[in-house]
Amino acid sequence: MTPAEGAGEAYDAASTGWRAGPERMYARMAEVMAAHAPVALAGARVLDAGAGTGVAGEALRRRGARCVVALDLAPTMLPRPPALAAVGDLTRLPFAAASFDLAAAAFSLNHFTDPVPPMTELRRVAGALLATAYAPEWAHPAKEAVDDVLARHGHRPPEWYAVVRADANPGGEDLATFARAAGYGEARAEVVEVSTGMNTPADLVDWRFGMAHVAPWVGALPTGERVALRRAAETAVTGMPPLVVAMVVLTAR
Ligand SMILES: C[S@@+](CC[C@H](N)C(=O)[O-])C[C@H]1O[C@@H](n2cnc3c(N)ncnc32)[C@H](O)[C@@H]1O
Repeated sequence: MTPAEGAGEAYDAASTGWRAGPERMYARMAEVMAAHAPVALAGARVLDAGAGTGVAGEALRRRGARCVVALDLAPTMLPRPPALAAVGDLTRLPFAAASFDLAAAAFSLNHFTDPVPPMTELRRVAGALLATAYAPEWAHPAKEAVDDVLARHGHRPPEWYAVVRADANPGGEDLATFARAAGYGEARAEVVEVSTGMNTPADLVDWRFGMAHVAPWVGALPTGERVALRRAAETAVTGMPPLVVAMVVLTAR
């Protein structure tokens, strides 16, 4: 199985946990991302590329985008009708050239050790790109604390996650360099801070337990073990700061 197939299957199995936690913080980050769109959004045709549950497309629609198509490898992540959605791979998009005015790739290009092939494909179908990723230097203590609790309870990250993580989260300048290599004439990246609104111990655990490399494993635990795990995780993150994310925003055209 390739890392992409592994990630697709994991997101498929994680969609319930994702909607219960990470979706809320990604929705906030999508709002901030949408404010940086490099094209006029009124009436724009937008591809939400690696859409997950479609929060980026929704944020762009609220700012005036007319036709938003969500594409993802994982069918159960995709937004439900009447949203327009397609299952597909970012490196082989099922769309004709110049089908869209803008491609939005919210936290999806970081699933590639080399983001140039998907960026090249996105440029084929849309003249402009708006993408986000975690700033490489960003960290929140809840991540390590919950990972420790998970490991003590027997969780081991799946292989696809280790592969993706090896080169994940390129810095802003790296992302802009990748975009130029993919053929965009202008590429600019900046780091912005986003208050996600995920502040309580329960929120922080919802965030970590809903991630694709964790949610299927947590979901498969017997109820008693799952309750004990959550209690241990919430205790471990009590008193931690709110979840404020340093997010790279790339614009290219
Ligand atoms: C971190 S989630 C972000 C989802 C969404 N964009 C958001 O901001 O909430 C990454 C998404 O990228 C999708 N993805 C990963 N690799 C992909 C690929 N090769 N082609 C299409 N989608 C992919 C995953 O299935 C997942 O839904």
